[in-house]
Parts: sequence; C-alpha cells; structure tokens
Amino acid sequence: MFKITDRVDYVGKIDWQLRTFHGEQLTTNRGSSYNSYLIKDKKNVLIDTVWDPFSKEFIDNLEKAIGLKNIDYVIALHAEPDHSGALPYLMELIPDVPVYCTANGIKSLKGYYHKDWNFVPVKTGDVLDLGDSKITFVEATMLHWPDQLMAYFDKDEILFSSDAFGQHFATEFMYDDAKKIDMSELLFEAIKYYANIVAPYSSRVTQKLEEIKGFNLPVKIVAPSHGVMWRENPNLILEKYAKWADSYKEDQITIIYDTMYGSTRRMAECIAEGIRAVTPETTVKLFHFATADNSDVITEAFRSKAILVGSPTYNSGILSSIAALLEELKGMRLSGKKAAAFGSYGWAPISTKVIAKMLSDANFELMDPDNVKASWNPTEEAIKECVEFGKKFAEFAK
Ligand code: FEO
Repeated sequence: MFKITDRVDYVGKIDWQLRTFHGEQLTTNRGSSYNSYLIKDKKNVLIDTVWDPFSKEFIDNLEKAIGLKNIDYVIALHAEPDHSGALPYLMELIPDVPVYCTANGIKSLKGYYHKDWNFVPVKTGDVLDLGDSKITFVEATMLHWPDQLMAYFDKDEILFSSDAFGQHFATEFMYDDAKKIDMSELLFEAIKYYANIVAPYSSRVTQKLEEIKGFNLPVKIVAPSHGVMWRENPNLILEKYAKWADSYKEDQITIIYDTMYGSTRRMAECIAEGIRAVTPETTVKLFHFATADNSDVITEAFRSKAILVGSPTYNSGILSSIAALLEELKGMRLSGKKAAAFGSYGWAPISTKVIAKMLSDANFELMDPDNVKASWNPTEEAIKECVEFGKKFAEFAK
C-alpha cells in the first residue's frame, strides 16, 4: 500500500512473477499489477480488487489500511477476474456494502460468481457523493469488455480508467517518471497492451477520447488498472491512444514466417534484402513465429505499415503457427495496412493462396496476385525472384 494523494491510497498488488495473461494467450515479460484504489472522505470507497491468488493478502492489507467495516462503497470498474478475483471473499465480510458497476458489470459479476450482491447500476454522468468530494462515472463500453467503466474523482482530478491506458509492467515506482523508470520499457509495454488487448476496439477508443475531452475535466492523474499511473504527463498516454486508434503505422515492414528446412526462411531473408535496396530508411524486422514471443510479434505487426507472412505448404495448407498468427491478426481488425504472402512448397504451391486469403479476410490490402513461391530448396533464380519481390513490395508499401 502507498499514498497517492492525501485522500487516495494504492491498495493493489504488484505481480513480479506473472509471465502470461489471459491464460497462455499473452506474454507479460515484465510482470503486471492489479491496481486497486481506496478513496477516503466522509464516505470511503474501494475501486476494484485484485486477482484471486492475492485475495487474502489484499483483504489483510485493506483491513490494516482502513478497516473493512469502514468501507462504504465498492466500485467494480470491470468484472474480469484479474480485478474482481478478491471480490467474493471481500463481500463475504461486508455483504451489505453497495457494489457500483454498469448493468453489464452486474451481468458479468453474476455470471462469474453467482452471487446477488447489493448491486447499484450506474451510467455515464451518474455521481457518487462522498461528502467533500464526488466521483463521476463514465461508461467505457468495449474497452475492452461490455461492462467497462471509468470513474473521475473531482477533488484530486484523478481519472480511474480501468484497463484503458494500462500496461503489464511490474515496477516498484508506480508513476511515469523518467528519472525512476525506463520510459522506453514503459511505452513498449503500453503499446504491446494496446496492440494485443485494445486494438480491436480502436473506433471506440477514438469516440471515448472525444467524449472525455468534451467533459472539459482537468486530469492530473490517469490511474489505470494495470501498471504505472500517468502523473508526470497524463496527456502523453491520451495522445498515444489517439494515434494508436487511428490506423497507426510506423515506417516499418515486419516479415513473419515459419519454416521446416529453411527454404521459407531463406526467402524471408532475400525479400528483406530487396526491401532494404529500395527503402533503406524503412525498419525491417524478421520473426520466426514458431519460436518468437508471439505477443511481441503482434506488437511489431501493429506498428508496421506492411507485413509479409510466409509458410511452406503443409498438408495442403499452412503450418499451424502461421494459421494462429493470421487468426489473431483477423481478430485485431486493423486498418490501413498492406501485406503479401510467400512460401516454399514441394509438389503443390498452396500455402501462399491460403495466407493471401486469410490476410485479405483480416482487412490487409494485398499485393495480390504477386505472391512469391519457391519449390523445394530455392534455386539462384528463385532467390533473385525473392529479392525482386522484396523490391516490388517496398514500392507497394510506400
Ligand atoms: Fe485487466 Fe480486462 O482486465
């Protein structure tokens, strides 16, 4: 626990050990935190809890920090178990305390815990009076679940933003202060979080940022549910989200492939050579998806203006790692990005057709039908063709 302001304490949990999230779906190489906040006024409010494994520690700390009987209200900004995990244990101890959340939050919490707590549904503009201060609620539907809610604490001008603006980033110093933390690490974790969790809902992000701006509320601290609070420069993350939500791209081409005996890898390297020959200023990155950190590769794809995806033909289709990549890219609903397919084959040149179709379904603009194929181990001629294909792709991606 630590003090954020005279009225607000941090009562969450920093999880240094976490290495995967959403089961095994997302890597969290720098750990995470489950942020929970306690606001003290004439009425005391707890915002969110922590993930189930830390429930006992959380409740013991809360007892020391305020005494459970002194909690007047609970706000559940989000029902996902990383934030609501300790709620069933807490509500056993304070069963009559009202739980403020959205109508969808009630559905999700009941769906998870099968309990009928003293729910109070709230909507955008609803206010909770704490005595000398107040909390105003702002719905944040589909950022990234239907139930999501934000809460603005007027006295200290803090926006409790739930998952939005968060990062899976464990650190002892929980603020965006460049003197105390590595800002490049923080911003990488923030964009990784956006790419892997928030990107499918980018149009909602744009709407929500406009809505928040329209309220004309001063924001001194943006306090998300994971990672550091944005206090030194709260506008930085708001500006980043505005850019990331708007068909974001850097001058980068990412080449993602899988390979069995190195033929498709060789093709990837020759395509990269072709790109570098035409646009040496463009950052080109290659990833062997089967062994790379998949969540980091998704982040690189999100940053790119264009991607190339390669697989050898395998069982009349493609290797399963590349199928998984394409399925994930489809779910991200990206816009404004270009792509092409490549791959080797033995006796049936199928993989590039499969990849091109999946890229098209994932909303990429294709350089179709100019996908490049090579049979067996690429010949000198096939190598030259890959370099030329890379040159053509660099022009296409400009
Ligand atoms: Fe951090 Fe959507 O839970």
